[in-house]
Amino acid sequence: MGEDAKNLCLLGSTGSIGRTALRVIRAHPDRFRPLVLVARSRGDILLEQAREFKPKACVLTDQDAVIKYCGDFTALGVELLAEEDCLRFVVGLDEVDSVVCAMSGVAGLIPMESAIRAGKEILFANKEALVVGGEYIMRLVRDSGVRFVPIDSEHSAIYQCLLAGRRDEVSSITLTASGGPFLRSSPEQMSSVTKEQVMAHPTWEMGPEVTVNSATMMNKALEVIEAHFLFGLPPEKIRVVIHPQSIVHGLVEFTDGSVLAQLSPPDMALAVQYALTAPERLAGVVEALDLAAIGKLEFLEPDEQRFPLLRLSYEALGGEWWEPVALNAINETLVRAFLADEISFGALLKLIPDCFKRRNEITGEWSPSAKEPDCLDEILQADTAFRRFALSSVKGHGKRDIE
Ligand SMILES: NC(=O)c1ccc[n+]([C@@H]2O[C@H](COP(=O)([O-])OP(=O)(O)OC[C@H]3O[C@@H](n4cnc5c(N)ncnc54)[C@H](OP(=O)(O)O)[C@@H]3O)[C@@H](O)[C@H]2O)c1
Repeated sequence: MGEDAKNLCLLGSTGSIGRTALRVIRAHPDRFRPLVLVARSRGDILLEQAREFKPKACVLTDQDAVIKYCGDFTALGVELLAEEDCLRFVVGLDEVDSVVCAMSGVAGLIPMESAIRAGKEILFANKEALVVGGEYIMRLVRDSGVRFVPIDSEHSAIYQCLLAGRRDEVSSITLTASGGPFLRSSPEQMSSVTKEQVMAHPTWEMGPEVTVNSATMMNKALEVIEAHFLFGLPPEKIRVVIHPQSIVHGLVEFTDGSVLAQLSPPDMALAVQYALTAPERLAGVVEALDLAAIGKLEFLEPDEQRFPLLRLSYEALGGEWWEPVALNAINETLVRAFLADEISFGALLKLIPDCFKRRNEITGEWSPSAKEPDCLDEILQADTAFRRFALSSVKGHGKRDIE
């Protein structure tokens, strides 16, 4: 391990992005040191990682997992911390230089906020945290002056292309979408697919929630919102194009008509490595791109009939600050119900827009307000309220109800 290695706190180390990040770190041991590794419940994977990388500490936020694995970590001589609350603490440790935000879902927002407040460099894959934290998080980033670099491949592509011009010279940006497993299915066929078909993404290997989001196109909807906050562009300047080969990840059109694109094989290691080193580049961890072997690159307009969820992001961005929060909370809750076999894919596709359409009908302790939030709690209250709202909509659509 090099003396000058960057000390990392890796949130979500056992997930798809977390394991990819460790692959990059393994390739450059003199440059990066995983000081803290964080997961929820997969203690077996975390223990393997701790054995290999010898971090200063590990965290499991699931209590049962802590009880199950604490003896193993003690035997290994690695401190094991427990509970979500300690995430605020570990991201702010003096020795931590950078925090890799690779947890899934909105749970990653609290440590992301704490890390920014502690002045740490943020390398983030966790798009839901930015969709929900929105302008509040971007204000903190600007005020603290921390580096805030995207890992999501499309945003990494745009980030790289933007280096070629001034921000006021940008006409539009385009995010590409693979189209997922149902690119050529009819809406009727999509309503009756199996979970196995949903989970079989043609080009990317990802965690379960983002895989479902790719099949519904909600992943791209969230990425449009992520791009809006990250790059400070109005929704009408953010476009989406279907590109089944997943080779071109993002494009920037400048005012003179030039379009710059970033291309690479569909492997997140490159985007993770670039985030860790930007604007410097290190020898690649992914195989070289062979365009002749790929042969053709296709681009198609997203079909509104097949992927109606995409437009919800533009609707959410046209509204109040809490509307992206509502969209994410509704989606996350219903996707988890789908993954737990409580609702079918057809019900998921129907419930997300139905529930979002009724967002103004929300009642209870939290009520919609136009005033921008000035603390994280206000955002989290809205998130909790819309999770309850979405859960109540599952009743009557459960698999047993519709089968
Ligand atoms: N995978 C991709 O190719 C990709 C590409 C671009 C962006 N992203 C984004 O990156 C994020 C991670 O995606 P992923 O595919 O890596 O997901 P994943 O495979 O499901 O991994 C999620 C990780 O977060 C941890 N985690 C979740 N909730 C937690 C909590 N409350 N406390 C502590 N740890 C928690 C999980 O721990 P356990 O393993 O213990 O559950 C796991 O390590 C998502 O926001 C996704 O949208 C992913």
